[in-house]
Amino acid sequence: MLKTTTCGSIRAEDVGRTVTLKGWVNRRRSHGGLIFIDLRDRWGITQVVFNPTVSSEAMAVAEEARPEYVLSIEGTVEARPAGMVNPNLATGQVEVLAHSAEVLNPARTPPFPINEPAEIDEFLRLKYRYLDLRRETMLRNLEIRHRAVRFIREWFSDHGFLEVETPILTKETPGGAREFVVPSRIHPGDFYALPQSPQQYKQLLMVAGIERYFQIARCFRDEDLRADRGLEFTQLDVEMSFVDQEDVWSVTEACLTELVERVGGKRLLFRPFPRLTFAEAMDRFGTDKPDLRFGLEIQNLTDLAGGTEFRVFNAVLQGGGQIKAIVAPSCAGYSRREIDELTRIAVGAGAKGMVPLAVTAEGFHSPLTRFFAEERLRSITERMDAHPGDLILIVADAADVAAAALGELRLEMGRRLGLMDSDVLAFAWLTEVPAFEWNPERGSWQAKHHQFTSVLDEDLPFLETEPGRVRAKQYDAVCNGLELGGGSIRIHQRELQERVFRIIGMTDAEANEKFGHLLEAFEFGTPPHGGIAIGIDRLTMLLAGQDSIREMIAFPKTQSATEPMTGAPTPISAEDLAILHLAVTSHE
Ligand code: AMO
Repeated sequence: MLKTTTCGSIRAEDVGRTVTLKGWVNRRRSHGGLIFIDLRDRWGITQVVFNPTVSSEAMAVAEEARPEYVLSIEGTVEARPAGMVNPNLATGQVEVLAHSAEVLNPARTPPFPINEPAEIDEFLRLKYRYLDLRRETMLRNLEIRHRAVRFIREWFSDHGFLEVETPILTKETPGGAREFVVPSRIHPGDFYALPQSPQQYKQLLMVAGIERYFQIARCFRDEDLRADRGLEFTQLDVEMSFVDQEDVWSVTEACLTELVERVGGKRLLFRPFPRLTFAEAMDRFGTDKPDLRFGLEIQNLTDLAGGTEFRVFNAVLQGGGQIKAIVAPSCAGYSRREIDELTRIAVGAGAKGMVPLAVTAEGFHSPLTRFFAEERLRSITERMDAHPGDLILIVADAADVAAAALGELRLEMGRRLGLMDSDVLAFAWLTEVPAFEWNPERGSWQAKHHQFTSVLDEDLPFLETEPGRVRAKQYDAVCNGLELGGGSIRIHQRELQERVFRIIGMTDAEANEKFGHLLEAFEFGTPPHGGIAIGIDRLTMLLAGQDSIREMIAFPKTQSATEPMTGAPTPISAEDLAILHLAVTSHE
């Protein structure tokens, strides 16, 4: 090794040792004829002192050095003078007195500060990602991700799971996200698809008798990007044979619980993870990925809202809609502007409006007071468990719209009232998810999770007659308002799989063409099986307390699907296109 020690490991007991350090200039300052350089490497920072009376050559190097220069330094570890100890630095009790120094490589002035926290334009950070990754928070994020993945690999290995790699060049799978495709040079006009997930392969591994599979799997989806969604991402992918939902939940829960303890810094709010049915989550939280770190649950006021002159409510009631509400504690004093902001959120979620009802010691303030008798308003207050000083936010609309609007309002109030503690992780299971949803564009049913998901035994009789009421043996792991993972017990019989393909509008011929391999495999003694996939980017984002998965990925794409550092995606040459038998018909 070219260095005898790291910049993070020197301690008081090393005083007197001669060390060779190599690293980057984090900070440089002159003071009283001396130069001090904080030398940084991956493990920390050590203060190096240059004294012209000790070495004029080393002093000359220190004079030349600028931030991010790469230096080699040899010197003696000394105790810092009394009063100069830095308690915030692991090496803060010592410094290294340089005997000799060398510039291994100079550096241009970086486009943004590396040695201190700063608000930096994300495009610039991604263009110079190799510099961005030198920053302490980014290094910490990479370390957390590494520790999490390492823990997961060991945990699953210790519990009898086999990690198996599955192909990246696969076959197009209809029914899910849009896929990336790769042209085949050898088979003109044919394309591989990049996997949205290893779903079919892991099921085929169950047919192969592996029984307990996992993989830290790269997945690709050509979707619109958001803070929690990337074009390429990583899943902890798991599949098990001879299991029911409880088995998948207990394995996942045990691993996640130990992981949170091991990585540290976060507190689990619930143990065991609570379970909510899809219907219950929509009813109480207005979303299928509730943030359970706080209450502010949605209440139903439909039965208290009719029989008045208030036309808005009456119209909704006649249309079979619902009147629902949440309480914003201590917000009765909200200004017109603040109420308007909340109304805009409700409208943004599709609602026609929002009715505020402020509860004060003097009485009620609300557009409702003209239509609702005091007694009725008091019943509403009681139902809502609201107290003087609280503000009730009411939305009247079709059930799904009211749920969506109040779900958004609840999150907004959680944010405004500081109820989302980023040190807390509130995991939960979402269960009994509907198997199918209607796709108005295609005019057909589609699988809500995926088409390989089995259905609750008691709902099987309605499979063909009422697909909308069929619940799947499907579950999501949710945490802090994010969908962290999803999985299901799979179909393992050819006949049921074919019925499901038909419900989602596939002819038998199409099913055979696209999924013949799976249907055939089911004829060779397929064990009952099920599994789950947990998003590693999202999971580690929560562990690191970040709010975008891009903070957890070394080289992510921007929101507009580019990589500013390399410039990807780029055109390819006419010759390469010809080799791939491709013609480009339009270009930006
Ligand atoms: P699903 O599509 O629900 O299930 O994905 C599982 C988890 O993967 C993560 N995830 C993503 N993370 C970042 N960017 C994306 N674009 C993205 N898409 C998904 C989420 C999500 O919960 N094969 C099934 C799993 C199974 O049934 O076992 C699947 O992929 O955290």
